[in-house]
Amino acid sequence: MHAASAIDTLTLAIPPFRPLDSLDHVADHLLQAGYEPVLSVPIVDAERPVGMISRHQLHALFMKKFGRELYGKRPVADFMIRDFLSIEADTPLAQAAQYLTRHMRQPVSEDFVITREGLYQGVGAVLSLLGAMERQAVQHSAQLGHAYRELKASQAQLIQSEKMASLGQMVAGVAHEINTPLGYVRNNVEMVGEFTSQTARLLHAYRELSRALLAADGDAAQVTAALDSIEALEALIDPELLQADQSTLLTDTLYGLNQISELVSGLKDFSRLDQAPTDNVSLNDCVESALLIARNSLKNKVEVIRQLGDLPPLRCAPSQINQVLLNLLTNAAQAIADRGRILIRTWAGEGNVCISVQDTGKGMPPEVLKKIFDPFFTTKPVGEGTGLGLSIAYKIVEQHGGRIRVASQPGRGTRFVVELPCPTVTTPAAVSARLLQA
Ligand SMILES: Nc1ncnc2c1ncn2[C@@H]1O[C@H](COP(=O)(O)OP(=O)(O)OP(=O)(O)O)[C@@H](O)[C@H]1O
Ligand SMILES: [Mg+2]
Repeated sequence: MHAASAIDTLTLAIPPFRPLDSLDHVADHLLQAGYEPVLSVPIVDAERPVGMISRHQLHALFMKKFGRELYGKRPVADFMIRDFLSIEADTPLAQAAQYLTRHMRQPVSEDFVITREGLYQGVGAVLSLLGAMERQAVQHSAQLGHAYRELKASQAQLIQSEKMASLGQMVAGVAHEINTPLGYVRNNVEMVGEFTSQTARLLHAYRELSRALLAADGDAAQVTAALDSIEALEALIDPELLQADQSTLLTDTLYGLNQISELVSGLKDFSRLDQAPTDNVSLNDCVESALLIARNSLKNKVEVIRQLGDLPPLRCAPSQINQVLLNLLTNAAQAIADRGRILIRTWAGEGNVCISVQDTGKGMPPEVLKKIFDPFFTTKPVGEGTGLGLSIAYKIVEQHGGRIRVASQPGRGTRFVVELPCPTVTTPAAVSARLLQA
């Protein structure tokens, strides 16, 4: 138990009276220094508290007719309260307060005796107990506030590190994706380089011919030689074919470069670190962005079918929504053992936009389904899954004011539906209702 929370911090060292002391003696002493803070004084016999007497009681007795003469000489034990309140010094504040409120008599400002192992220690005042309780409550609420802020920060940290982890997984795939076009772009450029040197040889031969033709002395032998060497070169290099090949190579190269820049900008979009919501986000663009990043884990085994509806612009943090979608797509791909399909649908609902990711994977039994949103729950081998993906997806969707639902059948597949609120959504039914009203 923490010392600061125990009742002994409230102990007032009030000198006690003995049971045989007279009321006069008590009354005289009460006026002296040391007793000011309390309304009641303790009566102690051989260090054990046996009673209490209050100023109020003394006053009432002495105010009676001849009160002081009648009662002044009598021992205080004749008048003291015997069922006074007594609390052990190491009792926690909250427990003491509970005990006092349960047993306290009026007036509430009455004092109580504090003991240690049954022996007199001092006196406590109900008001100072209340004050201490209040200070403790303030301190607890500050601690709670601090803990809450820390929890929020670590949650944001968790989302960020999961994002980094999933990004890490994806980087290998994306690097591979970039490598393929990069490979043939390099090849093409090398070939264009070779073609350029062939073109240069042809050009050189043509210039030799033109020089021979234009020469003032007009040597026919030189012209014939130039023509022969052109013929020999053209047998090796067909200029028309060369031009056609070169333009195909350049078109392919441009295509490859576009693919690379698409991947790079997709990656940049995806990994945006901003958490702040942005207006005018297209959920369909988020789908494309996540698909681009997930491409490597989907290809060769998953047929992706998109049914993307007309969606109004959405206010959301796109990088976080990308993270949700990427996790749903990765989970779906991981659930498909051999070959399968992922159907992605988006549509505008009543006041929201929805996206469903449905796979033909292995599905989940009810006992797994129950736990999938729990942090660290995973059925994947160590090192493959952290079990954070869905819990973070859940948190992100919740922070956007939306919800995420799932239905699954073992052996048949799983469907996740994410709904995000979008107040501007108006369905045709809502539009016609409004038109009718107008
Ligand atoms: N589409 C799905 N089909 C079948 N099981 C799924 C599907 N999505 C999730 N699960 C189950 O839910 C569990 C938790 O998923 P979650 O995304 O939270 O973690 P994980 O995929 O195991 O690990 P991580 O996402 O961190 O790599 C998975 O281990 C899997 O058992
Ligand atoms: Mg996952």
